[in-house]
Amino acid sequence: MSVHNILCLGDIIGITGRFALNRYLDNIKKEHNIDFVIANGENVANGIGITRDTAKELFSSGVDVITTGNHVWNNKDVFAIIVGENRLLRPYNYPNQSPGLGYYIYDMLGVKIAVLNMMGRTFMDPIDCPFQKAQIAIKHIKERTDIIFIDFHAEASAEKQAFAYYLDGEVTAVFGTHTHIQTSDERILPNGTAYITDIGMCGSYDSVIGMKKEAAIARFVTKMPHRFEVETTSPMINGVVIEIDSENGKAKNIKRIKYVYDDVVEKK
Ligand SMILES: [Fe+2]
Ligand SMILES: [Fe+2]
Repeated sequence: MSVHNILCLGDIIGITGRFALNRYLDNIKKEHNIDFVIANGENVANGIGITRDTAKELFSSGVDVITTGNHVWNNKDVFAIIVGENRLLRPYNYPNQSPGLGYYIYDMLGVKIAVLNMMGRTFMDPIDCPFQKAQIAIKHIKERTDIIFIDFHAEASAEKQAFAYYLDGEVTAVFGTHTHIQTSDERILPNGTAYITDIGMCGSYDSVIGMKKEAAIARFVTKMPHRFEVETTSPMINGVVIEIDSENGKAKNIKRIKYVYDDVVEKK
């Protein structure tokens, strides 16, 4: 039996998330014997969107594949990289005309691993049905590999659970992103798919989902617009390590990770 460990990291928030990965990802990979890293990068550029430079920074920190979500198009610099960079994905259930790829198959130490990026529709923009569109992608992917990781970027816990049960046994793992808050429901579903509702974020621990608390509070209290700013204290790394049997594509174990540091975040 051949075993691999895949690290999935939650939404990387601006400079704080980039700093944490740049400084600590190598150590975390060694500690957990990691073979492959998937990270959600929809908030990596100043808290919203992704740019060519911030994507490159993640790759040089040791991320193998970047997934995204509803903020993928928020920084127009994404168009300088989304076409032609197959290590950067956008949700597959966006309209077919959208640039970029929704899934791709990568080499993990000689083994093929597919990463598929999907997005939910409950309390979010109405896009193509993630359930039906995932089945289409999986049918194509299965011709080449049984190792399939899905980042399901979605708001509603129920939609995320239902999606994972719907695909239980069809894919290796379904991990949730988007809420930036790590849930404690990680498990292996009855037919062998690893699942967690949300893996959390890589950003400031002492913040409101990665942003400075003051503006977030003011928005709720006054119901008026206040400019969000990325919080730069207490960098945190959230994610899961999923151990798989690479011969049959089944998950063997899923473990949550959460590290909070007290560094002062500096620009590289
Ligand atoms: Fe996010
Ligand atoms: Fe999101």
